[in-house]
Amino acid sequence: MRFTLSFVTLGLAAVEIAHALPRGYQQPARRGSVNILDDVVVFDAPAFDDPANPGSSFAQVQAYVSTRQISLGPLVDGVGGLLGKTIGLNIADSIDRVTDRLALFGTIGLSGKDVKVAVAGCGSKEVTLPATAKGGMSIQNITLGACKGFADTAKPILGSVDLSFIDTRKVKFRVFPSSADGFGVISDIDDTVKVSHSLDKLLLAKATLIDDPIPVPGMPEVFKSLAASLKSPQFIYVSASPFQLYPFLRSFIDTTYAESNGPIFLKNLTTTSLTDITDFLQSDGVFEYKSAMIDRIQGMYPGKKFLTVGDSTQKDPETYGEAIRKYGDSIACAWIRKVEGANNTDERFAAAFKGVSPDKFKVFSDDEIPSLADIDVAGGSCS
Ligand SMILES: *[C@@H]1O[C@H](CO)[C@@H](O)[C@H](O)[C@H]1NC(C)=O
Ligand SMILES: *[C@@H]1O[C@H](CO)[C@@H](O)[C@H](O)[C@H]1NC(C)=O
Ligand SMILES: *[C@@H]1O[C@H](CO)[C@@H](O)[C@H](O)[C@H]1NC(C)=O
Repeated sequence: MRFTLSFVTLGLAAVEIAHALPRGYQQPARRGSVNILDDVVVFDAPAFDDPANPGSSFAQVQAYVSTRQISLGPLVDGVGGLLGKTIGLNIADSIDRVTDRLALFGTIGLSGKDVKVAVAGCGSKEVTLPATAKGGMSIQNITLGACKGFADTAKPILGSVDLSFIDTRKVKFRVFPSSADGFGVISDIDDTVKVSHSLDKLLLAKATLIDDPIPVPGMPEVFKSLAASLKSPQFIYVSASPFQLYPFLRSFIDTTYAESNGPIFLKNLTTTSLTDITDFLQSDGVFEYKSAMIDRIQGMYPGKKFLTVGDSTQKDPETYGEAIRKYGDSIACAWIRKVEGANNTDERFAAAFKGVSPDKFKVFSDDEIPSLADIDVAGGSCS
C-alpha cells in the first residue's frame, strides 16, 4: 500500500496522538443529555420534501458530541514533530493557526448522548436525535413540518441546539431546503474549488494547517453563475476530508462560495483504536465513501438532476462515471478539473467513464475554467 500524507493520514496521526493523551485517559462514561462538560457540533443540513406529506419536509441532521477539548498543546507538538520529521515543515511560527485548525482533532467523541434540536419557523417542536453512536455521531431525518417561507425561498433556515438552562452557549446550524425537482450540484472541495495541493505532502500540510485557504481561480465565479443559471440548485459539497476540518472548510465555503452555499459532507474519522485505524487506512475508501454520499443525496432528491464537479487527484472521475452508469439521467453531467501531476491519461478517463456517452462529461484544464460558465447545463449541455 502506498502510504502518503493525505488529509486522512494526517488526521489519523492527529487522532492517534490525541487519543494517546493524556496517558491512561479513559473515555468518560457520560450518557444522556449534552451537558456543560461536552461540546456539540451540528453540521449544516440539507432538507428535502417528504413524499408522503405534501408541504412537509425532512432535514437530515448530523451531530457530533465530544468531550470539551483536552489541552491541545501536546497534540500540536506531536503533529508538529511528525510534520517536521516526515516532510520538513516547521510550524513554529504558526502555532495559533495550527492549534485552531486541529481543534476538533483534539476532542474525543462521546457515545450515548442525546442532542435536542429545533428549527426556526417550522411547525415541528424540538426533536431529540437518536443517542450518539460510538465515536460521537448521530444522524437522523427530522420532520420539519411546514416551515414558513420554506417553499418559495432557497434561503437557509436557522436551527439550534437546546442546551440545559445553566448552559449559556449557543450552538446553531443551518438547514438548506431545496425542492424535489430542479437541479443540484455535487462538488468536491480539495483541488476542485479550493487549492489544496493534494498531491504534494508539504504544500498540502501547509494549505490545510497554516495558509489562508484560496479558491481555485475562476471557480467562485463559475459556481455563482450556476446558482443563477440552474435557478438556485441545491449545492452539496462532498469531500473525503475528515469532519474535524469542518469549521475550517465551512468558513471557507461561507466566505468564498457564499453565492453557492450548501451543506458539506465529510468523512467520519472517529476511530478509537489502532486496529480501526489500520483498517481505515488499508481501504483508502474514497471511491466507496463518495459513492455512498451520492446514494445518500439520491435518496433525498430522487427527482433532481445533478451536475457533479470534481478533479483528477483522487477518485472523482471513477465515482462520477459510476454514478452516471447507476443513476442515468439523474446525473446530468460530470466536470473534472485536470490537476497537474495527477493521472490525466486518456486511458484513465476512458476507464472511469466507460459506457458513458462522451457528451455527459467534460475534463477541463485551468484555462477553460472561465468558459464553464457559458455551458448551458440547464438546457442539457455538458461541454
Ligand atoms: C458516521 O457515523 C454515524 C454513526 O456511527 C453513522 O450513522 C453514519 O452513517 C456515518 N456516516 C458516514 C458518512 O459514514
Ligand atoms: C433519510 O431519508 C432518506 C430519503 O428517504 C433515506 O434515503 C435515508 O436512509 C434516511 N436516513 C435516515 C438516517 O433515516
Ligand atoms: C492511469 O490510470 C490508468 C487507468 O486506471 C492506468 O491504467 C494507468 O496505469 C495509470 N497511469 C499512471 C501513470 O498511473
